Amino acid sequence: MTAGGGGSRAVAGGPAPHIPVLGRPAVELLNIRAGGVYIDATFGAGGYSRALLAAANCTVIAIDRDPQAIALGAELVQSAGGRLTLVEERFSQLDRVAQAAGYAAVDGVVLDLGVSSMQLDTPGRGFSFRHDGPLDMRMGGAGPSAADVVNAASERDLANIVFLLGEERRSRAVARAIVKARERTPIATTAALAEIVAAVVRSHPGDIHPATRAFQALRIFVNDELGELTMALAAAERVLKPGGRLVVVSFHSLEDRIVKTFLAGRSETRGTSRHAPEVKRPAPTFRLLTRRPLTADADEVARNPRARSAKLRAAERTEAPARADDLTAMLPRLPALADVVRGR
Ligand SMILES: C[S@@+](CC[C@H](N)C(=O)[O-])C[C@H]1O[C@@H](n2cnc3c(N)ncnc32)[C@H](O)[C@@H]1O
Repeated sequence: MTAGGGGSRAVAGGPAPHIPVLGRPAVELLNIRAGGVYIDATFGAGGYSRALLAAANCTVIAIDRDPQAIALGAELVQSAGGRLTLVEERFSQLDRVAQAAGYAAVDGVVLDLGVSSMQLDTPGRGFSFRHDGPLDMRMGGAGPSAADVVNAASERDLANIVFLLGEERRSRAVARAIVKARERTPIATTAALAEIVAAVVRSHPGDIHPATRAFQALRIFVNDELGELTMALAAAERVLKPGGRLVVVSFHSLEDRIVKTFLAGRSETRGTSRHAPEVKRPAPTFRLLTRRPLTADADEVARNPRARSAKLRAAERTEAPARADDLTAMLPRLPALADVVRGR
């Protein structure tokens, strides 16, 4: 997530127009050195990439699934003098992207999860209930949109999506209201959906907007954000050199829980209970650098309220081979997007 405005620092490509949330600790924890190769898996407006390029004479491979972010990054690529490669791809493929760029292994991977300010503040992208726009929410250009989901999903699927990915207690009422509304006319805009949700989710003065959780749920579902995250963590484990660093900044509890559980499992050296029978564990693949997540300080939150919920976790890769276990058990149990939009 990025914040607009001030405090910029001269980096490759001129002053940075955005300050990434927790950018300073993230770059410090990556331990950037000259000659190193780093993956910025969420390029966005390029705030992290600029900071990495400025920290040492290193190489950066940056990834974003959003074609607009890639187009806007062209100037930075030009000014980086061959040190920045920018690739339109999903970050679940980050190890393949590195290999295609000629690097079998890298020294660091950073993920700054969620949507960018640019995406959120562009009404045409349909992410926000604050600006009316088409109900889209796709970070990349392809695949079903949020409108496809709300107009085709069964009431049960809608309720599960809103409950599991939005942690919305009124999920059933929200699903019922959506189904009732779309019987009259398809739901096509963010304002229409926000109004339908706000009619059934109570809010008190000072609360977040009543549609916040439902919008979050749809966005996560449309972009398979949690599936992408688990695959990216596994890909980072495969591509990091021993001593290489992984830094992840997350913005809500569902993401942070996945990062926390992954890193706890990968760094575990002993059984959980001294009373339980000894089980042979594979060698840890990561060593934790942050026992507790780092959070933004009051100054950063004052400058950028979106930093309020940011959590940073970091770990260092060990020599142990990457594991090949199935991480899908960490994901909420929901049907696939393609099945949901077929109305199963
Ligand atoms: C919070 S922004 C990153 C901001 C960036 N750190 C900066 O300093 O400007 C997140 C970015 O990650 C991208 N993104 C989210 N999920 C992705 C995925 N699965 N694969 C590739 N890019 C993704 C979004 O399109 C968005 O541009």
